Amino acid sequence: MAVYKINVATGSDMAAGTLNNIFIILVGEHGESEKHQISRHWSHFLPGSVTEFDINVEKDIGELLLVRLTMERYLNFLLDDWFCQYVNVTNPSGQLYQFPFYQWISKPGSVEVPEGKGVIITGSTHPILLRQRKAELEMNRETYKGFGTMLKGFLFNKDLWHNLEDIKLLSTLRQSQKSGLVSEIWKEDYFFGSQYLNGVNPSLIKKCFKIPENFSVVDEMVASSLGPSTNLETELQNGHIFLADYKILENIPTNTINGKQQYIAAPMCLLWKNPQDQLVPIAIQLSQTPGKHTPVFLPSDSEFDWLLAKTWVRNSEFQVHQIDIHLLRTHFLAEVFSIATTRQLPMGHPLYKMIIPHFRYTLEINVLGRKQLLAPNGRFEKAWVFGDGGIPLLLKRAMEGMTYHNLCLPDNIVSRGMESIPNYLYRDDGMKIWLAVESFVSNIVNYYYTSDVMVKEDPELQAWVAEIFKEGFLQNTSSEVPSSLKSIASLIKYLTMVIFTCSAQHAAVNSGQFDTYSWMPNGPTTMKSPPPTAKGATMEDILKTLPDVNTTALGLIFVWIVSNDPLDTRRLGNYPNKYFTEKTPQQSIKEFQDKLTEISKHIKERNKTMDLPYAYLDPSVIENSVSI
Ligand code: FE2
Repeated sequence: MAVYKINVATGSDMAAGTLNNIFIILVGEHGESEKHQISRHWSHFLPGSVTEFDINVEKDIGELLLVRLTMERYLNFLLDDWFCQYVNVTNPSGQLYQFPFYQWISKPGSVEVPEGKGVIITGSTHPILLRQRKAELEMNRETYKGFGTMLKGFLFNKDLWHNLEDIKLLSTLRQSQKSGLVSEIWKEDYFFGSQYLNGVNPSLIKKCFKIPENFSVVDEMVASSLGPSTNLETELQNGHIFLADYKILENIPTNTINGKQQYIAAPMCLLWKNPQDQLVPIAIQLSQTPGKHTPVFLPSDSEFDWLLAKTWVRNSEFQVHQIDIHLLRTHFLAEVFSIATTRQLPMGHPLYKMIIPHFRYTLEINVLGRKQLLAPNGRFEKAWVFGDGGIPLLLKRAMEGMTYHNLCLPDNIVSRGMESIPNYLYRDDGMKIWLAVESFVSNIVNYYYTSDVMVKEDPELQAWVAEIFKEGFLQNTSSEVPSSLKSIASLIKYLTMVIFTCSAQHAAVNSGQFDTYSWMPNGPTTMKSPPPTAKGATMEDILKTLPDVNTTALGLIFVWIVSNDPLDTRRLGNYPNKYFTEKTPQQSIKEFQDKLTEISKHIKERNKTMDLPYAYLDPSVIENSVSI
């Protein structure tokens, strides 16, 4: 038996890779090898990859003349196009044979690639090569259909995933700087915790002073996590315990996808700031109702019990992030601000001039979102746990919890007790931007308003604020959103909130979606088995719970689209439409831009030193408005 070493190179075009099964036969002067499948691995046949493997050949086949490549469907996926660059074969004596190809293979069946030493076809040429040349001339040379076909393969597949590695085949069709890393470290507790601080939903977690009565966690359960030198009570008093509570999801009606009922949990997750200044989960309860069938999951449980519990929390995180934090608190709020502005503030009003650039494309993207995502039969219904029935209810609950304090970053941080936790970059970067916006707003407001009376007696300004309270917050006084403004200071805070919400806050919760969710297990859009009521999970249970193949593909397309920068962007603080003609406000704009440049420089420098850089609040990538 002889061992031949094979290298197969895939083209570097983004559509060049394939999911197909590929087989190879070596054809020599004295015969052919057996048919060998090129081994499957998630990194094989990705664009730009070189797949290396060995094959055993039973007999002496002599000098190599060609290789025969055969393509077949993978599972019941559609056959997709593959751009093969070359095949190199090294025989047992170390002699290298090269088979350059550089063509698309678009059909099932075989292609034959001759050895590359400039063979000229003549009557005396080996008959195998003559036949190969004929086949080559007939070969379909269709080009670039690859990516679409590959994705279609997933979109038509309603199966469950058979293993996690298969999910990588999908998640690597597109990659961002961080998404590959997420797929490597998603199981790590420190990464799970870090996403509460610097992920796409950084404003849910809060300090926990007392364990909620419906959370059955007790000291003995977390003792092994906390170590011998402390205990739960002490750490609560030290301010080292944090809580993520998803009560808002309790009993929200769920969807049916691919004919299967989908499920949601309403978990509570307890986290600990450990002595290494990492935030790590130490207990998870997947229901708000404690009892015999509501276990508390712990890091000391089996690998799969703990992983399944964390995955349920990540699923809950996805729902709350998308519907409450992203859709309601940025997209829909920006729409309210935008409409009230055009209705109540005349174009010559200084506040109109200041804030109108922050509503660019907001109505357009929201109309598109309603049509394509939220509408019956839209993407949410096809791929997310909440369809038509669940989303309005979740939005209603989210509305009830939305307050003026939540929307003003400094108050938001204090109200959640998050002033001092280390490595909270959303807070640190966000506060710098909040203060820069506040300073800019303050300069403009103080230029036009010289007393509180002027604020109180500006009918257009008051009508604007009143309309936002009435139409946007439905006159809910418990939200503490002002219905009128009585001072310059209150006006500055209000305008800062509006600009910050439409720019930085949206960037913080929007820009990282592909990084975070393209590796589906880190944020499943839906779950198709009920939350576990006992321990003893297996990997099979996890795979049965995760979304189907086509549901995963739809989720991937969504996060890819919304994380892409629109081509026509305007960054925070850029105002090419020169509404202000006076020198002082123009100077204020310049100062604002200079401050943002300085903040951006600082963030870029800091990120160079970090394993998990945080760039979503770098002003150089923050858009002026909610436009995607
Ligand atoms: Fe968005």
